[in-house]
Amino acid sequence: MSAISIRKVWVEYGEQIVLERLDLDIASGDFVAIVGPSGCGKTTFLRLLLGQERPTRGTLLLDGAPLPDEPGPDRGVVFQRYSVFPHLTVLGNVLLGGELQAAPLLARLFGTARRRQVEAASALLAEVGLGEHLHKYPSQLSGGMQQRLALAQALIMRPKVLLLDEPFGALDPGIRAEIHVVLRRLWKETGVTVVMVTHDLREAFSLGTRVVVFDRLKRRNEERTRYGATITQNIEVRKRDAQTALDADIQNQLGRDDPALEELSGRDDLASAQQ
Ligand SMILES: Nc1ncnc2c1ncn2[C@@H]1O[C@H](COP(=O)(O)OP(=O)(O)OP(=O)(O)O)[C@@H](O)[C@H]1O
Ligand SMILES: [Mg+2]
Repeated sequence: MSAISIRKVWVEYGEQIVLERLDLDIASGDFVAIVGPSGCGKTTFLRLLLGQERPTRGTLLLDGAPLPDEPGPDRGVVFQRYSVFPHLTVLGNVLLGGELQAAPLLARLFGTARRRQVEAASALLAEVGLGEHLHKYPSQLSGGMQQRLALAQALIMRPKVLLLDEPFGALDPGIRAEIHVVLRRLWKETGVTVVMVTHDLREAFSLGTRVVVFDRLKRRNEERTRYGATITQNIEVRKRDAQTALDADIQNQLGRDDPALEELSGRDDLASAQQ
């Protein structure tokens, strides 16, 4: 069964059609990378999956049931920046999700429950390489460390779906490669379904089991409001198992030999979206 099933979904803001006729099935445990030119509705699409936005028309199912209208613990999210709370420590940031969930009014856990949460949060932080930094504040962390913190914060609730909106766009290439390794490991260990927006085709093809291209079919200025973007390509890059086999050689397989990548790279609109 599809983890996420999207049928004939449209999103309109007043007169403006942003997304039209979206049809997509995402299998449980897939890693879907979404690419497309700026402004074509990628973030809007993630907001639909998060429950921050409702489709104007069409249906969205999560594990066969209509998607809840509000963000919930079954969906975690990481944005490009500012996902973490600056006034909380590393540990406090990850605990917050668990505390809010267990005690929505008090946001404070006591005794055994708290100890368990602290243990789980510390273990996850160790996994993302922040085990030595539990009591630091975000301002004392590098950008890459902050995004690893944001990943831990999103994963502590064991979401079914992890939504990533250009989470590594602001990071240097070396730091990105490091965090790719962390993300890939967490994805495999947890079996979480990932939907990640990226401007970087290499990142899309190196991490994704599937690459989905959003684009406008009508590009003339006067057509901009009357026609939205839609899914123009849906490319299966590899099966999840094949993805695992690639892990031994992460750096070297960044899509260089991928004919689909070559084809996409030749397109001006996507090339400009990559910058
Ligand atoms: N709440 C809103 N009200 C009105 N228009 C909106 C709203 N949110 C987004 N839009 C419009 O929807 C379109 C798509 O925006 P979106 O942020 O989803 O694009 P994007 O593909 O994520 O772009 P980028 O790659 O630059 O992040 C834009 O034209 C934007 O102005
Ligand atoms: Mg966006």
